[in-house]
Amino acid sequence: MVLRGKNVIVAISGSIAAYKSAILVRQLIKSGARVRVVMSESSKDFVSPLTLSTLSKYPVYSDFNSNKETGEWINHVELGLWADAMVVAPATANTLSKMRSGESDNFLIAAYLSARCPVFFAPAMDLDMYNHQSTRENIDWLVANGNIFIAPGNGELASGLVGEGRMAEPEEIVSSLERFFQRNLPLSGKKVLITAGPTREKIDPVRFISNRSTGKMGFALAEEALRKGAQVTVVCGPNSIVNSDSIERINVVSAQEMFDQVWAKYSWADVVIMTAAVADYRPASISDQKIKKTGGPLEIKFVRTVDILGELGKSKQKQLLIGFAVESENELENAKSKLKRKNLDLIVLNSLNDSGAAFEGDTNKVSIIDKNNKIEHKQLKSKVEVAADIIDKIVTLL
Ligand SMILES: Cc1cc2nc3c(=O)[nH]c(=O)nc-3n(C[C@H](O)[C@H](O)[C@H](O)COP(=O)(O)O)c2cc1C
Repeated sequence: MVLRGKNVIVAISGSIAAYKSAILVRQLIKSGARVRVVMSESSKDFVSPLTLSTLSKYPVYSDFNSNKETGEWINHVELGLWADAMVVAPATANTLSKMRSGESDNFLIAAYLSARCPVFFAPAMDLDMYNHQSTRENIDWLVANGNIFIAPGNGELASGLVGEGRMAEPEEIVSSLERFFQRNLPLSGKKVLITAGPTREKIDPVRFISNRSTGKMGFALAEEALRKGAQVTVVCGPNSIVNSDSIERINVVSAQEMFDQVWAKYSWADVVIMTAAVADYRPASISDQKIKKTGGPLEIKFVRTVDILGELGKSKQKQLLIGFAVESENELENAKSKLKRKNLDLIVLNSLNDSGAAFEGDTNKVSIIDKNNKIEHKQLKSKVEVAADIIDKIVTLL
């Protein structure tokens, strides 16, 4: 998830462990990264460029010249700048030494020296090569100068010797990158609780009263918060949205059930975003039997449901509390009054008078109002883009 859309250079040097790099490329791509492969000349004896270009869907780079006749060349500087991360795996003793000294006599080292992104390196070599003082000093120097070390494993080596020096497994290398990017995301370490969708209030065993909310806005926010590194829980009324596995989803039906679940999670959360369209009223009693039709009108008495947002506002401690308002008249005045009354930090207003806004569709047009009554009027956008605007605003408040 965190590697989705990241540009990653996999740089392969000449170790027997180079075959594992093919698996590494596949796993990085599976995790959502775009991968370009750089190979040292000697690594081509261990794994074929054809395998790696097929897996990465890009040509493999190992030479500055792409066509000696025409003078066309591969731009190592551009490649270095393209990357969000570079992983040297396997990193031979030779390549480690050149990374340290800057001896740029091959494409891999030139790309390394050009990269402004974080560089990970996973050494692979025989135990005596690994324990040699010069290798150890090179590793220490590289770490001290900002490169990220992925330690080799201990075990049987290609030489038949047993000890340290076996390249970390591809899964471990991918996890290192994920941990790195996770830590550096703006919401990493934050817990976000979101409500989404409608609620349903039962009238009898077959009927209920509900509203037009689909949960799209709430889940768009949940996915965006997740992308930004948060731990996310969504408490949602009935809806048909399929969400990422990494989101904790708690399904509820009525306003009271939604309140119970949100209340139980409230102290856990750093940010609470209430997008659900919660019923304000429910039938005073639920008929045990299906209500039969009669000749005359049917009267149902409604009573107030619990005011979830109001209760959260009253007990707010560390949480940033964000509410949504759907209004059809006096939109701004009503939203500002709700912001104050419910002790919110932000309110997101959507007006039923704007076409393409609020319920059911894939778009929304919102105004974001903060505690100081500062208003940001946004254009009509997809709900995914609106979610990004709201989460960005939350990041600035945090
Ligand atoms: C079969 C074989 C296996 C090798 N395995 C390793 C290795 O695991 N680690 C290493 O540092 N060098 C290893 N070498 C030596 C490197 O391939 C050699 O130092 C080469 O110059 C490295 O160049 P490069 O760093 O540009 O890829 C091996 C050599 C051979 C022939």
